[in-house]
Amino acid sequence: MTSSANRQKFEELLKRWIVMEEGTINTANSLINGSKNPMVKAMIDLLRLDSEKHKHILEAIRLSLDSTVTFSTDDMKVVDSFIEKHIEIEKNAIATAEQAVNMTTLPIPKLLLSHLLEDEKSHDAYMSELNGLKVYMAKDTD
Ligand SMILES: [Fe+2]
Ligand SMILES: [Fe+2]
Repeated sequence: MTSSANRQKFEELLKRWIVMEEGTINTANSLINGSKNPMVKAMIDLLRLDSEKHKHILEAIRLSLDSTVTFSTDDMKVVDSFIEKHIEIEKNAIATAEQAVNMTTLPIPKLLLSHLLEDEKSHDAYMSELNGLKVYMAKDTD
């Protein structure tokens, strides 16, 4: 963040984004009980739960703006064991999800599974990116 004008603009963008996520969550919540069909619930939940996640992360970023975030050695240990435990799981999840998508011919489960597969690919990429950022985080450790 370079200037206070930028900072203000950035905060406004985060706020606007959070409002959009809340809109999705509210719409989903008001519709989800209208059907007892588990597939209808799953179709709505695919977005609703992502919106919950987006809102949660956006709020964490917003909170982080109020202080200088540094990473302690204990923080680094937590990140390290998270990466270590998770990096293989995400790769296995992709392989498993690919098989499941290919085995399904029913259009709705196939659609949902293919979105979950994309999520797994994104989780796998995220773990590599997080691993790459460890050097940056280590610069700020105590
Ligand atoms: Fe979103
Ligand atoms: Fe995953």
